[in-house]
Amino acid sequence: MIIETIISTMSKEKKPQTSPFGIKKKNKLVLISPYLPSTTHTNMLENKFASISYTDNASIFVECIIKNQNFLMKKCTSIEAYYVKDSLRHDEVKVINYIKDDERPTFECEIIHSENHGSFLGINRARNALIEACILATRINLLPQKKILSELEYLENAILKTSGKIEQVSWNKLKKFIDKKIKKNEFNN
Ligand SMILES: Cc1cc2nc3c(=O)[nH]c(=O)nc-3n(C[C@H](O)[C@H](O)[C@H](O)COP(=O)(O)O)c2cc1C
Repeated sequence: MIIETIISTMSKEKKPQTSPFGIKKKNKLVLISPYLPSTTHTNMLENKFASISYTDNASIFVECIIKNQNFLMKKCTSIEAYYVKDSLRHDEVKVINYIKDDERPTFECEIIHSENHGSFLGINRARNALIEACILATRINLLPQKKILSELEYLENAILKTSGKIEQVSWNKLKKFIDKKIKKNEFNN
């Protein structure tokens, strides 16, 4: 199973990088697999640490994807990194093995510290739709435009029927971002 999370790492120059990543768990290990090139990959190779935030606030995924990052982070306890303040839990992990691959290498990580911050209050379809739309936003150069637009139209049903104000605002921001990216893509092709 893949769990959608927010991973934060730190560069050599102490610049944080915070991006959505789907992680896998294998026994007690966490597997993180960035597609190259990736700043998260560079940072994890250099300093071997990352925080993994588990949040039900889908707007945080949107903010990362549109590179707005309008949300608060807090200092980790045992590593030099930050985690998402509005998370239900976070893990602090250390890389113990690196599986090399030219396209998608994998970091095998050990959890060295975890904290719970809140309770999960239930599933909301609009939040799930936002996560799916974030994935589409990262695949504009890879998928046919028609597929992206029809999937967005389908996902919008859940937004219209089940969103709160925050999800509605995030949906509008993400749609604007996707529209702009599609236009740029058309211009370049
Ligand atoms: C829900 C979700 C899951 C994602 N999972 C991954 C992943 O496992 N690997 C990856 O390379 N990119 C993944 N992405 C895309 C990255 O977040 C995106 O490409 C980001 O810009 C990577 O930044 P980086 O330079 O820190 O790697 C995911 C995006 C979303 C919205």
